[in-house]
Amino acid sequence: MRIDTNKLAAYYADAPADVSLADLDLARMPSHVSIIMDGNGRWAEARGLDRSRGHVAGVDALREAVTTSVRLGLDAFSVYAFSTENWRRPQREVDLLMHLFATTLVKELPLFHQENVRLRFLGDLTALPERTRKVFQQGLDETADHTGMTFALAVNYGARAEIVRAARMIAEEVAAGRLAPADVDEELVGDRLYTAGLPDPDLLIRTSGELRLSNYLLWQLAYTEFYVTDTLWPDFDRWDYLRAVVAFQRRSRRFGGVSGA
Ligand code: IPE
Ligand code: IPE
Ligand code: MG
Repeated sequence: MRIDTNKLAAYYADAPADVSLADLDLARMPSHVSIIMDGNGRWAEARGLDRSRGHVAGVDALREAVTTSVRLGLDAFSVYAFSTENWRRPQREVDLLMHLFATTLVKELPLFHQENVRLRFLGDLTALPERTRKVFQQGLDETADHTGMTFALAVNYGARAEIVRAARMIAEEVAAGRLAPADVDEELVGDRLYTAGLPDPDLLIRTSGELRLSNYLLWQLAYTEFYVTDTLWPDFDRWDYLRAVVAFQRRSRRFGGVSGA
């Protein structure tokens, strides 16, 4: 994707002391950045607020991260919003999250139009409340012909469930005679995942300091660079995002080979 350097410079004015746009190498930009947005609950608890307030604040951080991703010229930006394990949370919190997904999506459609962002979802949406599903479908329909960045929202997503689903689909195709076992290769498996057609993430960011994947994109992260920050998700802003991308650009990605070869 092309970067609008004027817009980028305006977006990244007023730099803090430790990082600035000059640190960014525009020739080494990631194509796909993914974020495990974690720490909403701790953000709220630290302020003596209900966890739900953390999720509401997290929406603002997500809006900024989408805009940042567009300004950085990414092809794809994905976020982990709700895992298959998050159903274990108190019903009240689950209900609030489902409600937030629906209301936020409607509210942000103008941003997706303005920035030419195409929406997609990763995960099993059939288990979501009807209103949430309807709004998600509306988002898909309204952005289907957008040609800019893809924004992928992982909701009721679990990597193991995704791989099981792909295996089952492939088994059915083999059983029906449409595929031979020898046709099954990495590309074919990748095409049966929710992320089909998206490049693998170059950079995975996790906020709030946890050093785990929590069942996120197990297949797709095979060669992704990881960046973990202690910043809690509602506090994560364009500067934290820039720090992560700058750190990513300083890594040597060898993909099993040797440096510089
Ligand atoms: C991430 O924040 C948001 C979701 C998982 C939906 P958490 O709600 O996990 O926040 P912590 O980890 O409890 O602080
Ligand atoms: C991972 O965060 C899921 C999302 C960010 C949606 P969690 O807060 O659910 O992960 P654990 O429970 O700490 O592993
Ligand atoms: Mg958490």
